[in-house]
Amino acid sequence: MSSPKRIRKAVFPVAGLGTRFLPATKAMPKEMLTVVDRPVIQHVVDEAKAAGIEHFIFVTGRNKGVIEDHFDSQFELERTLDERGKKKELAELRRDLPAAGQTSFTRQQAPLGLGHAVWCARDIVGDEPFALLLPDMLHHAATPCLADMIAAYEKHGGNHIAVAPVPEDQTHQYGIVGVEDRAAKVSRITGMVEKPKQGTAPSNLHITGRYILQPQIFPILESQERGAGGEIQLTDAMIQLSKRDDQAFHAVRFDGTIYDCGAKVGFLSANIAYALDRPELSEALKTELKKLF
Ligand code: G1P
Repeated sequence: MSSPKRIRKAVFPVAGLGTRFLPATKAMPKEMLTVVDRPVIQHVVDEAKAAGIEHFIFVTGRNKGVIEDHFDSQFELERTLDERGKKKELAELRRDLPAAGQTSFTRQQAPLGLGHAVWCARDIVGDEPFALLLPDMLHHAATPCLADMIAAYEKHGGNHIAVAPVPEDQTHQYGIVGVEDRAAKVSRITGMVEKPKQGTAPSNLHITGRYILQPQIFPILESQERGAGGEIQLTDAMIQLSKRDDQAFHAVRFDGTIYDCGAKVGFLSANIAYALDRPELSEALKTELKKLF
């Protein structure tokens, strides 16, 4: 196999309403809620950057303008930090700032589902394979999940989906995949289903929200009918794509911990786990937590 095209671009669907976090999300996008001192979306962009992504494509919606501001420079703030000698803070802001031309923003005008959100990015992605990261799902691991997936992609080419086991009674909440070899880190996918009815899932491996997809997904999404929940489902389009002989799908098992920051317990747990990773916070936090039990 000739070496597959490099993955340069990543899509971040950030148009969701965040109703589960009202009233916090009344005037602020859910993606800007902070895990320790970085917005959730920044953590996910960090994961993409660590995997070598060069262009960050955000599919936004109404009231999401602050996400665009977050990835822009803030002249007054930078000048004030500079005048006050806050070198460390200034260096961190500059380190996190994408270079000019490295971000793109497009809008999903109606909440028609994940498949539709991805389709909205088609012209910006163009004719090349791309990564897709769902910002609600923080993947906490020594090696960033997307970096692992790109390594698998470089070996096998095609399409890749990160998966991890969930308890059987939760399979109906996710996209579920069947695989050829359950014990393998990377395995061919034999079947996929979005939100299977209880007791009908092909396995307990759920789609965790990290994908590497070929651009041939876009024309399929364009005519994709509504599926589970009345939404245009990415999983349904992936099932169509996987039927083609030249479009293999691989599952890459994620061995770290996933925090669903779209749910309150997941979000709160993420704050604790990410704070415990920080040497300057961990001891003090442990002391405080112990007092609670
Ligand atoms: C989406 C995908 C689903 C995946 C999940 C991970 O569902 O459609 O396949 O398992 O993200 O979070 P949603 O959470 O948008 O319902």
